[in-house]
Amino acid sequence: MSTIDKIKQLKKERDAVILAHYYVNDEVQAIADYVGDSFYLSKVAAKTEAKTILFCGVSFMGESAKILNPTKTVIMPDMLADCPMAHMADIGKIEKMRREYEDLAVVCYINSTAKLKTYSDVCVTSSNALKIVRALPNQHIFFIPDENLGRYVASQVPEKHIILNDGYCHVHKGMTRQEVKKAKEEHPNAKVLVHPECTMDVTGLADYIGSTSGIIDYATASEAEEFIIATEMGVLYELRQKNPGKRFYPVGNHAVCADMKCITLEKIADALEKMNNTIEIEEEMRQRANQPLERMLELGK
Ligand code: 13P
Ligand code: SF4
Repeated sequence: MSTIDKIKQLKKERDAVILAHYYVNDEVQAIADYVGDSFYLSKVAAKTEAKTILFCGVSFMGESAKILNPTKTVIMPDMLADCPMAHMADIGKIEKMRREYEDLAVVCYINSTAKLKTYSDVCVTSSNALKIVRALPNQHIFFIPDENLGRYVASQVPEKHIILNDGYCHVHKGMTRQEVKKAKEEHPNAKVLVHPECTMDVTGLADYIGSTSGIIDYATASEAEEFIIATEMGVLYELRQKNPGKRFYPVGNHAVCADMKCITLEKIADALEKMNNTIEIEEEMRQRANQPLERMLELGK
């Protein structure tokens, strides 16, 4: 039996739904029931009726699914697939900021550990951060962990005082202005579509800045035929599927998230067979981490 047939059979036996982020390998996206950005996937995870959620993504995604839907079994193809940025904020610093500003809101990018979420007031993703920060009654915002997304939000919501943290995504931070300019020289008619986890050097050259699904929707709706894509290269799969007549060029050839790419069909079949690699979160922590996630779902509607 092929690995894909094995996955199909095990999925039925385990009453499992497969969720995948746009950054995982093409063949994994191809077999998933739902593929999307972090916000979309968290909404699917919160609502699914399947008994088991197999999350093809990094650990904060599986954790968020478990936090939002605790009666489900959440399994990961590879427990080592983790987002380094999810750990890049310091609890002591959060507490210090809270002492300094009475009306502080700690806004936590969903790319964060469950523990960091428990210290936060609301979560955001790259597709809803602007909407949610604008909707908050607080004037002072401590944005964790991603400095670049925080800086982008600050530039779009100047009426708020946004305090930045020094976390970053190494994949997005690694893309340079020179590389974008070179791509633009090679493809002068191409629109430049950039993820807000990139540095200001790169977002400054963008025709459009948005989340992975924002980028896909923009390119799909656009009359342009060529696009330079400044985000992890996994999005090229969906971009090309949806737009066979258009041309997409990555920035450099190194925007690859090794943690996302370590998920394979074999690991998916194995996890479904053994039903190991389950996400477990202690109930008190889960309830505390659930509050900012639920608030995000409410404000992000
Ligand atoms: P989005 O899918 O929300 O754009 O997230 C980007 C990301 O880095 C996920 O790890
Ligand atoms: Fe984390 Fe960046 Fe990988 Fe997304 S692409 S999982 S932010 S390291």
